[in-house]
Amino acid sequence: MIIAIDGPAGAGKSTVAKILAKKLSFLYIDTGAMYRALTLKALENNVPMGNEAEIIRLAGRIKIDLVNNPDGPLRVLLDGQDVSLLIRQPRITQFVSDVAKIKEVRQILVKMQREFGEKGDCVLDGRDIGTVVFPYAQKKFFIDASADERVKRRYKELKGLGQEVAENEVAKDLANRDKIDSTRQASPLRQAPDAIYIDTTNLSIEEVVEKMFNLVKTNG
Ligand code: DC
Repeated sequence: MIIAIDGPAGAGKSTVAKILAKKLSFLYIDTGAMYRALTLKALENNVPMGNEAEIIRLAGRIKIDLVNNPDGPLRVLLDGQDVSLLIRQPRITQFVSDVAKIKEVRQILVKMQREFGEKGDCVLDGRDIGTVVFPYAQKKFFIDASADERVKRRYKELKGLGQEVAENEVAKDLANRDKIDSTRQASPLRQAPDAIYIDTTNLSIEEVVEKMFNLVKTNG
């Protein structure tokens, strides 16, 4: 079974996706981490963001592994190296939407995501899972929250990672990424017509997971 979770940055998708996957004993696939890993590779190779041909070439050569660990965070391996923390750096967040908007990059990463998904039951989160990657997913959710709440959550998450950030910088980054992600030509962020919309602004993580879990179990 495939469970597709989409929504804007900071809505809490990855948090609930991970817990839901654990509760169901499904694999969790964080597709945003894959775009982040490729962005890291490009920066490590000093590739300017405007050099799309080189970014596409790198996308075709990198190996990304997502290692599920039920008792800890997902581990992201880039060409065998653990980059789980490196891909959360502000410089990656700043450029990742520019990498993710390249059509050929998306084709390559979507292919990888489908291969991961074919390994068995899984929960995937991203922006285009229910619309493009797995349009026939058995269950689709669109997770949203007010802009203010999303800024608050992302700020708290970054603080938790030990990053010194100003709340207004987080707000600017989220607004910028939302704009690029939802207005790009190649598979922009959209709610699939058959996705269940959940506004999580006033819900706790547990309440959101419970709601999703019940909807999966009752096929509602
Ligand atoms: O969820 P995140 O913040 O880790 O995602 C990083 C970026 O990757 C985000 O700005 C949009 C992009 N992305 C995408 O275009 N498609 C996906 N399936 C997942 C993420």
